[in-house]
Amino acid sequence: MLDIKTTKTTTPKELPDKDDPLKFGTIFTDHMFIMDYEEGKGWHDARIIPYQPISLEPSAMVFHYGQEMFEGLKAYKTEDGRILLFRPHMNAKRTNNTCRRLCIPEIPEEDFVQAIKELVKIDKAWIPTKEGTSLYIRPFIIATDPFLGVRPSHTYKFMIILSPVGPYYPEGLNPVKIWIEDEYVRAVKGGIGEAKAGGNYVASLKAQIKAYEEGYSQVLWLDGVHRKYIEEVGAMNIFFKINNVVVTPKLNGSILPGVTRDSVIKMCNHWGIKVEERLISIDEVYNAHKDGLLEEVFGTGTAAVISPVGHLRWENHIMQVEDGGIGPLSQKLYNTLTGIQLGKIEDVYNW
Ligand code: COI
Repeated sequence: MLDIKTTKTTTPKELPDKDDPLKFGTIFTDHMFIMDYEEGKGWHDARIIPYQPISLEPSAMVFHYGQEMFEGLKAYKTEDGRILLFRPHMNAKRTNNTCRRLCIPEIPEEDFVQAIKELVKIDKAWIPTKEGTSLYIRPFIIATDPFLGVRPSHTYKFMIILSPVGPYYPEGLNPVKIWIEDEYVRAVKGGIGEAKAGGNYVASLKAQIKAYEEGYSQVLWLDGVHRKYIEEVGAMNIFFKINNVVVTPKLNGSILPGVTRDSVIKMCNHWGIKVEERLISIDEVYNAHKDGLLEEVFGTGTAAVISPVGHLRWENHIMQVEDGGIGPLSQKLYNTLTGIQLGKIEDVYNW
């Protein structure tokens, strides 16, 4: 159990208007959590302090070799005023999987969750309640040794910041247009694709710009070896409903194991909908569309929640799904998931 020292702000910021639909990731709350790591001492000095800039040496290793990781989860306020987190232990476990891959010291799961709970409690007035909003929680770890040379750092900072957010995509629950990338790749097996590391996101920017310029909101990545099998979207995992079966790429080392991905699989299983986690090629999707069997496509993610895909472009082929509208399964998953998150629907899964 952490002994968290708390220093409250003496200059609280103005809260966003309760009717503000909120953009994603632009406003930050009054406080943040920090804890330091040194070899020999371990993680120590857990504290909650006013949200503020941090000071680092220009030689801090994170700036040069990218040794850093981050997480994302959300807090919600129920109508009767309770505060709910969604599966925070999943994020704690994934943090440690990422830490092991990136040679960052692990954080005890209970400490990770405790730090989040205490910070969220202090800034609970910032949890928005307008439909489609939540308090996004961003834990992250950075390597801080002032050193130029490639090796794991001996010192780190673990921090948590909070941001009241609306939908990740400006489209909200309206279907997004997805560009299937065949030139650049996001990750390869054996790399760090399954870790939640900033490096995976910087790798995605070039293709994302290309997609934006063509009028698409996100990139769907193919595998880095065959350029044939579907991987993920970067900000979300991807699901296809083909001829009444839900198919999603099997986790293979280069795909991020999404908490929402796991939740969707469990909900579908619970409802008796067949889900297959397996290799799925772009040709299979293309042929299913050609044969009229591609019933729905949707992405899943903490930030994106359930994001229907209405339009896919692969090379010169354009695939319109569900006439560009929201499919019934996507809608049901969205309603149930957000209903559980907001405490409006019974949580039979204990999430
Ligand atoms: C999340 O869904 O929480 C993520 O970390 C994705 C990020 C691109 C916002």
